[in-house]
Amino acid sequence: MKAIVQNDYGSPDALKVKEVRKPRIKENEVLVKVIASSVNAGDLFSLNGTPFMVRFSVGFPKPKDFIPGWDVAGKIVEVGRNITEIKVGDEIFGSTESAFAEYVVMDMEKLARKPSNLSFEEAAAVPTAAITALQRLRDGGNIKKGQKVLITGASGGVGSFAVQIAKTFGAEVTGLCSTGKVEMVRSIGADHVIDYQKDDFTRSDLRFDLILDNTGNRSFSDMKRVLTSDGMIIPNSGHGGMSYVIKAFALAPFTKKIGVMKIANLNNKDFNILRVMMESGDIKPVVDKIFPLQETPDAIKYLEDGLARGKIVISMGSEES
Ligand SMILES: NC(=O)c1ccc[n+]([C@@H]2O[C@H](COP(=O)([O-])OP(=O)(O)OC[C@H]3O[C@@H](n4cnc5c(N)ncnc54)[C@H](OP(=O)(O)O)[C@@H]3O)[C@@H](O)[C@H]2O)c1
Repeated sequence: MKAIVQNDYGSPDALKVKEVRKPRIKENEVLVKVIASSVNAGDLFSLNGTPFMVRFSVGFPKPKDFIPGWDVAGKIVEVGRNITEIKVGDEIFGSTESAFAEYVVMDMEKLARKPSNLSFEEAAAVPTAAITALQRLRDGGNIKKGQKVLITGASGGVGSFAVQIAKTFGAEVTGLCSTGKVEMVRSIGADHVIDYQKDDFTRSDLRFDLILDNTGNRSFSDMKRVLTSDGMIIPNSGHGGMSYVIKAFALAPFTKKIGVMKIANLNNKDFNILRVMMESGDIKPVVDKIFPLQETPDAIKYLEDGLARGKIVISMGSEES
């Protein structure tokens, strides 16, 4: 089968299409024909080998035929002996390793049926970004109806889901983004949009109960200025680098104003919650561009350049197994 493989760190050009062995399933797994995947900020960590510790899972000192990607939308082509709840031909979405490939092995705990109203390309945009937005707002922020919520990076993958999910909780949502993306953030339902290239929200009279911080480019002390008395920042940024992560972990135990930074827990229960939200029309993935598998390096460059509005999708080009 064809897959994207990485044998070096540092540049999207290190990603090449290669013929590799089709994976094999065990009795509790399924084999999925991938129809689409999507790119995440985390793909930049494995590509660049930063923070350094990612090299222990991607490859040390260099990756060896590492296949990146996590998000999957596709069709079941084989089921393990112990699996009864799904059958060959079913359409699913979810998360696994090595997703930039024609076939992947998946764990039933990390997938759900594809929302019936979404294309495979739209469904592939959902897994990592939407589950992160849901868990950070619901579990990290305990979001409640009527709260004033600021989403930074509102135009990105996580942010575009977070704006819509916060609305489903009944929050009054403000999105923060660059000038060129203001209309897009408004179009997905933000009640207010702040263009950070024109206005510095940390110097405004606005006050927020929650700030979901997806960009990590403002200091916690700046952001604290615009919190209500019991307001909280939910740190969620790899873009801010290791210094942001270290500060978030160091400060959280000493103040209720900074929540605990957590990696998304990719699980079937939350994928099903998201499926219902999609099928009811409450949220809809924003797909900016679709790249064919062989153009994955361009997709990653597009993400790296901060150009995307919503999600960038990788298409495998065929629904036939
Ligand atoms: N907790 C988890 O498990 C988890 C999972 C996924 C992602 N994340 C984190 O969530 C954040 C958002 O992810 P994403 O997939 O939504 O990213 P994204 O699609 O790249 O979008 C983030 C948005 O932030 C702005 N931006 C882009 N590059 C930036 C940079 N270097 N510094 C500051 N702002 C930048 C851009 O908007 P403007 O042009 O409007 O500025 C962009 O649309 C990332 O930091 C990522 O590490 C965490």
